[in-house]
Amino acid sequence: MARPTPSVTSDAITGRLSEIAAAVGTPCYVYDAGLIRAAYLTLDDAFDGYPHAIHYALKANSSLAVVRLLQSLGSHGDANSLGEVDVAMRCGFRPDQIVFTGVGKSAAEIDRAVALGLLAINVESPGELDRIDQRAVAQGTLARVALRVNPDIDARSHPHISTGLRSNKFGVPIGEAPALFREMAARRGLQPVGAHVHIGSQITSLEPLTRAAEAVVGLAHAMRGEGIEFQHLDMGGGLGISYDGAPVIDPAEYVRALVQATRGSGLKVAIEPGRVLVGPAGVLLTRVVDVKQFPAAKRFVVIDAGMTELMRPALYNAYHRVEPLVPRDGEAVPVDVVGPICESTDAYARDRLLPPVEVGDLIVVHDVGAYGAAMGHTYLRRPLPPEVLTDQGQWRVIRRRQTLDELLSLESE
Ligand SMILES: Cc1ncc(COP(=O)(O)O)c(C=O)c1O
Repeated sequence: MARPTPSVTSDAITGRLSEIAAAVGTPCYVYDAGLIRAAYLTLDDAFDGYPHAIHYALKANSSLAVVRLLQSLGSHGDANSLGEVDVAMRCGFRPDQIVFTGVGKSAAEIDRAVALGLLAINVESPGELDRIDQRAVAQGTLARVALRVNPDIDARSHPHISTGLRSNKFGVPIGEAPALFREMAARRGLQPVGAHVHIGSQITSLEPLTRAAEAVVGLAHAMRGEGIEFQHLDMGGGLGISYDGAPVIDPAEYVRALVQATRGSGLKVAIEPGRVLVGPAGVLLTRVVDVKQFPAAKRFVVIDAGMTELMRPALYNAYHRVEPLVPRDGEAVPVDVVGPICESTDAYARDRLLPPVEVGDLIVVHDVGAYGAAMGHTYLRRPLPPEVLTDQGQWRVIRRRQTLDELLSLESE
């Protein structure tokens, strides 16, 4: 049964937001550790004893305290850059708990990934297969590799976060996979350990995910028939969350579907969830800095956060719930909630019904735990805002606000 993702407006956070804003200033991100724990355990429990590993996709939110929290729950890691590999290890993941994906791994990244002995380097092309083999042979070692296949399946998500179509740059066409597995098995420096598929992000229908899983299971059976035995099947991430309250895939149902597709093979299932673990657990706390009405036209609510703190609306026209922390009495009217950045795409909401707001009011932007701070940047010389983690009624700053001096410290005049 599909169900809306739980909202972050749990009492645990709402009661503390004014206090946090007063203490650390705005804008700031606030995460709820309890919601992250609950989301992780929902996925983990749904495997119901079937062999599996949950590789948290660090790209969603790689703040040290968030990654450490997931590591402490038993999660493994999915890294998309060497930086993320290092963050994962700093947070306690062993190299053999980390899978490394990335459509354009540099020579330095390959060299280090091989030297570390990661659980799997997910290979994206025949050329990359060759480069990993060369580095492994040069290092006198065997690199564990999985092949990322592109099954040409439409994830029915936003086109900018779809990765499993022939027209997307990711992986190798699944038809070419058997030949590449034979090639891997024949190479001196490579040990093929699995197949990998990731067809997109913010996926809200189960069918494409199940079809992708069935495709890699079919591949595993075919390769087994040729004597090439895998250790795991990595089904990627992509589970969507409900940004607007509409029903989404039940995470437990998703896990059960993957297990059902895989059980016959007996292979371990790996998944790489990001958004579903941390997305609903975070809010962005921001303050109104201006309100202006154009005659017989738009009303703008200007806030102190923008595309620098949350890229998703500008990047994908993504929807986020935006509401005053403490609503004032009065009729709700349509407004554009816009940021302070000099770009017309810098708007979190357009023609959204909002109760009256005044300069200084706190505004909460929901579901920013994933791809919020992680995609943050410093355009217009805006220092990175702080991040706060709440847990069982307590809160602590897990990243303090960057200063302008820190931002400029790499430069010289
Ligand atoms: C290879 C890979 N794995 C996992 C993820 C995590 O996806 P999500 O946050 O949608 O679960 C991504 C993100 O697109 C990805 O590219």
